[in-house]
Amino acid sequence: MQHIDESGGYGKNTVKKGSVYIRTIGCQMNVRDSEVIKGLLSAQGYELVDDAKEADVVLFNTCSVREHAEHRVWSIVGVLSRKKRRPLIGIIGCMAQNYKDEIFKKAPAVDMVVGPSEIDNIALYLEEALKKQGSGILGVAERKRREEIYHTGFYEKKDHAYVVISEGCDNYCSYCVVPYVRGRLRHRPQEEIVREVEEAVSSGIPHVTLLGQNVNSYNSGLGEQGMDFVSLLERVSGVKGLKSLSFVTSHPKDVSRRLFEAMRDIPVIKRSLHMPAQSGSDRVLTMMNRGYSVKKYLELVDLYRSIVYNGEVSSDFIVGFPTEDEDDFRKTCELAEKVKFDSAFIFKYSVRPGTKAAEFPDDVPQAVKEQRHFQLLELQKKISKLKKH
Ligand code: SAH
Ligand code: SF4
Ligand code: F3S
Repeated sequence: MQHIDESGGYGKNTVKKGSVYIRTIGCQMNVRDSEVIKGLLSAQGYELVDDAKEADVVLFNTCSVREHAEHRVWSIVGVLSRKKRRPLIGIIGCMAQNYKDEIFKKAPAVDMVVGPSEIDNIALYLEEALKKQGSGILGVAERKRREEIYHTGFYEKKDHAYVVISEGCDNYCSYCVVPYVRGRLRHRPQEEIVREVEEAVSSGIPHVTLLGQNVNSYNSGLGEQGMDFVSLLERVSGVKGLKSLSFVTSHPKDVSRRLFEAMRDIPVIKRSLHMPAQSGSDRVLTMMNRGYSVKKYLELVDLYRSIVYNGEVSSDFIVGFPTEDEDDFRKTCELAEKVKFDSAFIFKYSVRPGTKAAEFPDDVPQAVKEQRHFQLLELQKKISKLKKH
């Protein structure tokens, strides 16, 4: 097993290197991380290609949030490993952090495993892996990334940029693997965020989405008033040339009247709030460690709608959480009906080893999870359709 030193590896390198294909699975955070990696590798002379078959290096930027996301990666890696001539294979992102060097045992064809905190050293790891193919390069330290990686200017879309405002999460919702694979909550300095938005906008990108697992807990750490998420929004929205500003995700326990007022008063901010409810049962919400009640959630939506005229609201739901019974599920459907979300993502509960919820019995049968998933999807489809008319 090889560990690599952290001596940098930045700057331009014009010597031509191999070709790299990156496959991204997971949330917007991973989409942004893949852009960062592409920016760093192309600055080092690697060619980025859109077809895995043409690539010398194939990197999977992975997600561990549900078992299904992991299965997809194991099976594609399995197929690749059986090929006679295979590229160098790297597993990066959340599965890398989750399974670390176990990956080499489970999938011996994998050459390199690099976790989310270490992507700023990706070029160094890749260089090592290319030199020592077959010996397993591992980079899974947990630390704050170097700020400069966010300034490579590489964005996948021509008119839209994701800008990370915080890494990690400290909320420990009982079902969720993110705090374990992404580490403690770390905020980027406000100045750097504003600088990145300015850079993106001045390069011709007019639409920006600020990213964090819980954007409303943003605090630049200076301890003074005015350094929270709403002040960040105020500052970013002042960037000349910016046409729209969105943000995800809003945790219900941290949104405030001030946020809604900013959404009302600052024209560039999109009137769209992604505020996952997860469940409509207080008993389940407590087991999930979400930190709010259904009543509180409904009050927030009412407050939002009374302040933000025509504001959209969307949610995530998990069905089949341990011990969820028919009555709990009925309450979730009731919440969806009451709020009439513009849209919602609905997930079947998936046990994540190491989380608190993994200690509860996964006692809702798969068929029942599927039934509830289908039922809530249908209900939300009906609501979304009605709202559009
Ligand atoms: N930080 C965001 C999103 C995190 S992951 C938030 O707090 O809202 C995106 C969604 O995946 C979550 O909102 C949740 O609905 C779902 N999710 C997370 N862990 C899950 C699990 N173990 N099983 C099923 N769905 C899960
Ligand atoms: Fe996971 Fe909860 Fe953090 Fe979202 S807020 S990433 S669901 S622990
Ligand atoms: Fe995102 Fe999946 Fe990681 S949801 S933070 S890519 S576990």
